[in-house]
Amino acid sequence: MRWSSSAALALTASGAHALLRFSCSQLVVERLDPLVNPGIAPSPHLHQIVGGNAFNTTMDPLKPPPSQATCTTCTFVDDFSNYWTAVLYFRARNGSYHRVPQKPNVGFEQANGGMTIYYIPYTGRTKSSVTAFKPGFRMLIGRQDYRTREEASRFRQLTYTCLQNPMTRTGETLDFPKQPCPAGIMANVRFPTCWDGKNLDSPDHMSHVAYPETGTFENGGPCPATHPVKIPQLFYEVIWDTTKFNSKDLWPEDGTSQPFVWSQGDSTGFGNHGDYVFGWKDDALQKAMDSNCDSCPQLKSQTIAQGNQCRKQVVVHEEVDGWLNAIPGMSPGMEPIVSGLSLRQ
Ligand SMILES: *[C@@H]1O[C@H](CO)[C@@H](O)[C@H](O)[C@H]1NC(C)=O
Ligand SMILES: *[C@@H]1O[C@H](CO)[C@@H](O)[C@H](O)[C@H]1NC(C)=O
Repeated sequence: MRWSSSAALALTASGAHALLRFSCSQLVVERLDPLVNPGIAPSPHLHQIVGGNAFNTTMDPLKPPPSQATCTTCTFVDDFSNYWTAVLYFRARNGSYHRVPQKPNVGFEQANGGMTIYYIPYTGRTKSSVTAFKPGFRMLIGRQDYRTREEASRFRQLTYTCLQNPMTRTGETLDFPKQPCPAGIMANVRFPTCWDGKNLDSPDHMSHVAYPETGTFENGGPCPATHPVKIPQLFYEVIWDTTKFNSKDLWPEDGTSQPFVWSQGDSTGFGNHGDYVFGWKDDALQKAMDSNCDSCPQLKSQTIAQGNQCRKQVVVHEEVDGWLNAIPGMSPGMEPIVSGLSLRQ
């Protein structure tokens, strides 16, 4: 199944609509998940996290990131949000695993890995305003335990682009690419764009938001009555630099399967998911959305090199790099080690 990319749309229809697009460098690669597993260190699977340095085992919605963080890895200094996904590993023929490094997008080459973040206020010819997220807002999209196309189809726009070159933006798939991708694999994580207008979170961290009732955000589809408030299209692009692992001599000997696996033990790719904790200062994001700016000069920014300097204290100390017998938190066979969970703050 293929989806049109809003990035491609933005490039081809340049000028027709604005979007906020910026780089966030790596903050930390760590087994923490304050959204799904608050208070649990280590969390069941490994994440790569960008954004403000208030990211921690627990993030109290009543103490939003702008009041806790002292720096951010993102371009805009008022953005202390956290954005995170699972981590991609390569599985060698001998059963060892190696973390796949991330690489920055075209134009953001100085960044230390991380991802490209988009907030898209609207698309189409007529301007319809969006309501920016409120302090304490968080959400996730995707299910780490999904392993089939039928399940993954519940999410409209969680996809992969097999990069033939750094600018490839077509041919998105719901599962991992079946062939080596010369310039890496780009994971695309697009969040729902309709909000119930009341809840900052929900038990599954998803049901307070929804996709448009018909159509898509890109073509101006209306929000359902249950979730009437249009929110910005939040979108992550994460480029996994697979180039070291692209030789077919390294790929599985069966000749049909592919060697990449998400840190939750998913070798299908259908378990693609992303998490978000809103953390813009005051109404900086709302103002940027209202002014429909592209580079948004009114937002205070820092250089990518400055963003690379932002650090947080590591909470979970374990080896995540080099050749590993198992992915952190997983058995060598990629099953989660539930008994390894401990509750400590
Ligand atoms: C993270 O949480 C721990 C334990 O609650 C605390 O000691 C530490 O200061 C927190 N770190 C940050 C950066 O807030
Ligand atoms: C497993 O294979 C990888 C890739 O070929 C190699 O670099 C690594 O040293 C091997 N590990 C073991 C334990 O043989």
